[in-house]
Amino acid sequence: MPRPDPPGAPFQENVMSSVQTAPIHFDAFNALADREAEARIRAAKARLGSRAVLLCHHYQRADVYQHADLTGDSLKLSRLAGQSDAEYIVFCGVHFMAEVADILSKPEQISILPDLAAGCSMADMASLAKVERCWRELSTALDPDESVTPVTYINSAADLKAFCGEHGGIVCTSSNAPKILDWAFRRRGKVLFFPDQHLGRWSGHKMGIPLDQMVLWNPDQEMGGLTREQIANAKIILWHGFCSVHQMFQPAHILKFRNQYPEGKVISHPECSFEVCRQSDYVGSTETIIRVVKEAAPNTRWLVGTELNLVERLAQEVKDQGKIVQFMATTICMCSTMQRIDPQHLAWTLENLAEGNVVNRISVPEHEAVLARVALERMLEAS
Ligand code: 13P
Ligand code: SF4
Repeated sequence: MPRPDPPGAPFQENVMSSVQTAPIHFDAFNALADREAEARIRAAKARLGSRAVLLCHHYQRADVYQHADLTGDSLKLSRLAGQSDAEYIVFCGVHFMAEVADILSKPEQISILPDLAAGCSMADMASLAKVERCWRELSTALDPDESVTPVTYINSAADLKAFCGEHGGIVCTSSNAPKILDWAFRRRGKVLFFPDQHLGRWSGHKMGIPLDQMVLWNPDQEMGGLTREQIANAKIILWHGFCSVHQMFQPAHILKFRNQYPEGKVISHPECSFEVCRQSDYVGSTETIIRVVKEAAPNTRWLVGTELNLVERLAQEVKDQGKIVQFMATTICMCSTMQRIDPQHLAWTLENLAEGNVVNRISVPEHEAVLARVALERMLEAS
């Protein structure tokens, strides 16, 4: 869950640093011109040197992405967070990513999210209370701890990862979901997959599971709106969650592109609907999308179904090879929460760190972190 700070009152914490000053308030940065923010980010980064590492997700806006030390999809970034030796891991992404960095990094390392309001609307669609209720309701039809493996997409709060750790479950990302489902089915006959129905359905389909054996659990209805028979027959119980960005891409966009450019190729993120994935030539994580398009033959044309910042950057990067990269939707589809990490918040964060003040620390309570780490480490081992 994102924990937004009240307006004008960002969370600030004095740190164990030899140089401590009073934290600089964000108000001093709010109206900073982008160019000045950029210069101050560079200066603060130079002061911090190897003490801070900037991890950036591929959806990050260009004026922040340019400062990244390391970039990647969720799987790559979680591995990088675990491998870094920096004192501060500044996560230019969304809340759950900074939580994973905190869980997988060393205890003395500090994970930071430059704007606490940078959450993930899909992650917010599943809460611990609702998943626990689901587990309780399932137990009236079967013994979930014997027959259901809970699998959470990494786009979820730490307490849900802890739930999976505690109940023999695991975490997955968009780049390893079929492999993780395979892990899950080797242990128990059914999977409860949350919060993204589309990733779960597509991954199940890739494993050969028929669509009618994947049922949708509506957390706002008793027993998920399902009958006992439907639950008994299901291989995968999919949570009713989705990404508001990826739901904008439609099969009609693909149809129009194919009519115009029959030789063109279509590549989509697995958070897109089943039909969009089914009609795409390739489906993969953000890292996969970038790799496939970069490795493609010169002078090819691509329709890409994922967030706009990534697509625009990719289009620029492959332009020299004569490749044309088009965005799938006709409307602007950006991850508006990730977009909240702007140069002003980044400059504010880094200057405070350089002054010895930690702001916007993301710290997962230890009792949750221990169990969430179990589920994350199962994933890292299995993938
Ligand atoms: P990736 O792991 O593919 O980067 O996906 C993260 C995400 O949130 C996509 O919406
Ligand atoms: Fe969450 Fe969608 Fe943004 Fe990805 S693009 S971080 S799933 S809201």
